[in-house]
Amino acid sequence: MKHYLSINDIDSLPDWVTEARELKKNPRAHRLLGAEKTLCMLFFNNSLRTRLSTQKAAMHLGMEVMVMNFGTESWSLEFGDGTVMDQGSAEHIKEAAKVVAQFCDIVAIRSFAGLKDKEIDAADVVLNGFVEHAAIPVVNMESSMGHPLQALADAITLAENAQKKRPKVVLSWAPHPKALPHAVPNSFVRMMQRQEADFVITHPKGYELDPSITKGSTIEYDQYKALKGADFVYVKNWCCYSDYGSVLNRDTSWMMTKGKLGQAKFMHCLPVRRNVVVEDAVLDGSRSLVIEQANNRTYAAQVVLKKILDSNP
Ligand code: CP
Repeated sequence: MKHYLSINDIDSLPDWVTEARELKKNPRAHRLLGAEKTLCMLFFNNSLRTRLSTQKAAMHLGMEVMVMNFGTESWSLEFGDGTVMDQGSAEHIKEAAKVVAQFCDIVAIRSFAGLKDKEIDAADVVLNGFVEHAAIPVVNMESSMGHPLQALADAITLAENAQKKRPKVVLSWAPHPKALPHAVPNSFVRMMQRQEADFVITHPKGYELDPSITKGSTIEYDQYKALKGADFVYVKNWCCYSDYGSVLNRDTSWMMTKGKLGQAKFMHCLPVRRNVVVEDAVLDGSRSLVIEQANNRTYAAQVVLKKILDSNP
């Protein structure tokens, strides 16, 4: 495997989940695999879980790690071909990516959607710029379009907690004071489409995800109907495409409550706004899996790094 850019880079989700669960039992079993290899993690946006779990995963494999908050500490980048760079950007991706690649063996990138221009976000220019110009393996630590490390961790968490072969899993939209990107739901949907599950997406009208991603998945606009009989409820806000980057719906009745959750297990990628997205009673209750999900981020990152190291000795 060269890169880990999306869920589509996983050849067999069940095999990867099994391997991650094995790594979780003995995290340092392959501690020599990454010896004398360096992971460079570049953050164009904030992070808690992704930063610590990916670094921890690399350390388990014996790698050295360099971390840079690129968005605040480095030069602002230009991505356009042939641009006359007489405005804000001081460096072009063509040089920056080649320079970064000289210092490491794998580069991991976090760069969120700007939520100003749909087409620019869809092009995922930062991630794809490094893929095009760095000539080393690239790992997606959440881009405009996807968060495949999170979705892989979610698959591990589902496998660990499922009580039946074909559980009912509901992805439910929730209100949020800020417009948020589609990366997490996009990757969660793609991951769920590879699972043996009864999968339902629920959101208010107008909050449809990209139909090329949700194609084949059930969409139910009535949240109560969708939640009926659920074994797992994954809650997440995302912004609408029609008025891109705006908050159109603040309907607090979409917040997840203990009553609505019923007997289901609660999932969220974190960070989460308490009593806006989900009430305290859910997060503080025994049905919340959010801390397990965060823990599984390490083993998701570790299986990805291991496969890249295995393929690029
Ligand atoms: N879920 C997640 O990616 O968390 P961070 O933004 O803190 O990395």
